[in-house]
Amino acid sequence: MSQTKPFDYSLPENHILKRENLSPEIKAALLGDPREGWSSHSNFDGYANFWLRIHNNLRGGSDYLVKGFQRLLDEAESNLDDAVNTARLKEVGANVVSFAQHHHEIEDHNYFPRFVQFYPNVEHAISLLDSDHRVLDEALDETERALSCLQNQTADRDAIARAHNGCQALQAVLARHLWDEEEIIVPILLARF
Ligand SMILES: [Fe+2]
Ligand SMILES: [Fe+2]
Repeated sequence: MSQTKPFDYSLPENHILKRENLSPEIKAALLGDPREGWSSHSNFDGYANFWLRIHNNLRGGSDYLVKGFQRLLDEAESNLDDAVNTARLKEVGANVVSFAQHHHEIEDHNYFPRFVQFYPNVEHAISLLDSDHRVLDEALDETERALSCLQNQTADRDAIARAHNGCQALQAVLARHLWDEEEIIVPILLARF
């Protein structure tokens, strides 16, 4: 009699801070439409495209923050106060963080349980995404804390450097999560939604 191994997120092939791709076990359970064919699928313009656009906005937001903070770090001391005020990265960052939190909440509560209900084979893949969200939440909280230390009127180079580091960490985990999540859920959205 075959027995399914319990899913262990802490393994290097699963954890978002350690994996470099989805594991062969997870990949084997997916619906399997290759990414190259997604945009020509007859159902692409429904939820699949909508979802990919949200992900691209999140990627764009985290890229914008990393580049913006890097520009501030490169700024001459005499221009730094003005540059901080013009860039408004505290506000942009707050928007990116709340957009990501809202998106994950909708996935966790409204969509992931339904995906497992329709396709029980993807249970481990969805558990992986759920666990990713917890790591991402920590990265988002960390980014929020770093952003809250930024002053609007007087630039503090250390606070800018902390915000830059926080946004770089967020950019890395978001990039891994979004790509892998697309591999898991877009074929389901194409087939079913
Ligand atoms: Fe997600
Ligand atoms: Fe997502």
